[in-house]
Amino acid sequence: MNFDINNLLRENIKNLVPYSSARDEFKGHANIFLDANENSLGSPLTKWYNRYPDPLQWKVKEKLSAIKGVAPEHIFLGNGSDECIDILYRAFCNPGKDNVIICPPTYGMYEVSANINDVELRRARLLDDFQLDLIHLENLVDANTKIIWLCSPNNPSGNALNREDVETVLNNFPGLVVIDEAYINFSRYRSFIPELQEYPNLVVMQTLSKAWGLAGLRLGMAFAGKAIIEIYNRVKPPYNINQSTQELVLKALDEVGQVNDMIKLIVQMREGLALALTKLPLVEKVYPSDANFLLVKVADAGAIYNYLLEKGIVVRNRSKVELCEGCLRITVGTEKENKDLIKNLESFIGN
Ligand SMILES: Cc1ncc(COP(=O)(O)O)c(C=O)c1O
Repeated sequence: MNFDINNLLRENIKNLVPYSSARDEFKGHANIFLDANENSLGSPLTKWYNRYPDPLQWKVKEKLSAIKGVAPEHIFLGNGSDECIDILYRAFCNPGKDNVIICPPTYGMYEVSANINDVELRRARLLDDFQLDLIHLENLVDANTKIIWLCSPNNPSGNALNREDVETVLNNFPGLVVIDEAYINFSRYRSFIPELQEYPNLVVMQTLSKAWGLAGLRLGMAFAGKAIIEIYNRVKPPYNINQSTQELVLKALDEVGQVNDMIKLIVQMREGLALALTKLPLVEKVYPSDANFLLVKVADAGAIYNYLLEKGIVVRNRSKVELCEGCLRITVGTEKENKDLIKNLESFIGN
């Protein structure tokens, strides 16, 4: 399989002269910054917020590099994974001409972003066990297929995709293969990050929104070969990660131990919650999970969803999603929240 990024890129992106910011053009040491039209007097907040942030977030990338075992030049940071997704569409997919493939049921933004960018979406539905249908996938690929989106562990099913299947896709598809590993920290299976060396068409996405507990800061990560990262950097808005996010993330990244403790606890609680749910007569099936949520098939998803809402508990009703008929998706909560959930589900039985 021959991968040539120039065969994939849109013509306008190949020829793009990116915006050059004041902070891009000046490298070195200075005391007086009169180059970026900032407010030199300061701000109503802590002093340094009057300055534009590092456009390429090198300090954050260096810390992430040590944690993930990837060189900083192989990392792109986005305003959430959603930005990492959207930029790939804008850089690689010609509106009204190219297509991408998703494997539903899966994370909704691959489809929304395709629609925003006027890119045709093809669906290779997962098999009944939520694994890839490789034959269907292969049949959907044509000369205009630019991206295959894989999500592992998958949302909303919670399972990891079989590694050999993902490798088959990587070995045979000459376009980009994106593996969204938003939930990888909760999984028994390894990340595909070490495979970046072998597959120049691979993009691995992760996020600080899940295991790291930083959904409010909006930091998504894409790991890929230098050629793909260079395209990401050309297309992104100049200052896409704000200063306070960069600072807070730098602090948080020192706390790997604390995050690992949370992950262990969440995985333990996931298993406890699964067991408690299984014992309820209204629960027909709890699907095995490698994530921080459970897909749960219940007797009457709509009624239970509404009943829980009345009790002030919000879960995700996935019962209208293909292969998830009758299912609720339930995030693992705190010990007390999980107990409250079970208690309320027990009282539904008595209704
Ligand atoms: C599979 C998957 N990818 C990405 C995201 C979003 O990540 P972020 O908060 O970094 O945009 C989610 C959020 O639910 C998700 O389920």
